[in-house]
Amino acid sequence: MAVRPMSASGTILAGGVIAAGLLLAGSAQAQAEFAAGRQVFRATANCGTCHGWAAHGLKDEQTAPDGPNLHETKLNREQMIEVVKCGRPGTAMPAFDRLAYTDKRCYDMTAAQIGADRPPPPPAVLTQRDIEAVVDFLQATVVGKPVSYDWCIGFVAGAAANACDQFKK
Ligand code: HEC
Repeated sequence: MAVRPMSASGTILAGGVIAAGLLLAGSAQAQAEFAAGRQVFRATANCGTCHGWAAHGLKDEQTAPDGPNLHETKLNREQMIEVVKCGRPGTAMPAFDRLAYTDKRCYDMTAAQIGADRPPPPPAVLTQRDIEAVVDFLQATVVGKPVSYDWCIGFVAGAAANACDQFKK
């Protein structure tokens, strides 16, 4: 349709205003989710044990498995959620879903089917909500963002900013 009737464009405009209002109303919630995701990464699940506190692929714990640099992951949101829920079969990436491999929710495989390739148990069990929060947090702050001093200052958000000195050029 080439020409839009006036009334329709009026409706579209009103729709835009309503959508903007919803976005504003949602932002407090979005902020809470962001903080929740950061908490999961830093504390609840301690992803940094293997991936590094800055998710930069230099593990916090010397004896832990080597987790890859998550800044460079090519996975999208859905794929990341799956990896966190189900782990990566045959590797040290744990499955954080309590029910992983008790049914077929993960890669369509039960414990019997996956056998020795079953990912290790997680340091802490995460809910679906925790998992989405940590993935959204990583997608927003880490994925596709090169590690630099300025990036790091934003990432630590005031906490232990001197930890970022190592990224100064
Ligand atoms: C016990 C160590 C360990 C912990 C804890 C851990 N990971 Fe991992 N993670 C790994 C390893 C090892 C791999 C690489 C698996 C492979 O070889 O494909 C990995 C892979 C991943 C990948 C896939 C990256 C890619 O591009 O393929 C994502 C995403 C990921 N981890 C996220 C997380 C998050 C989020 C947490 C915390 C909730 C976490 N990991 C906790 C060890 C760990």
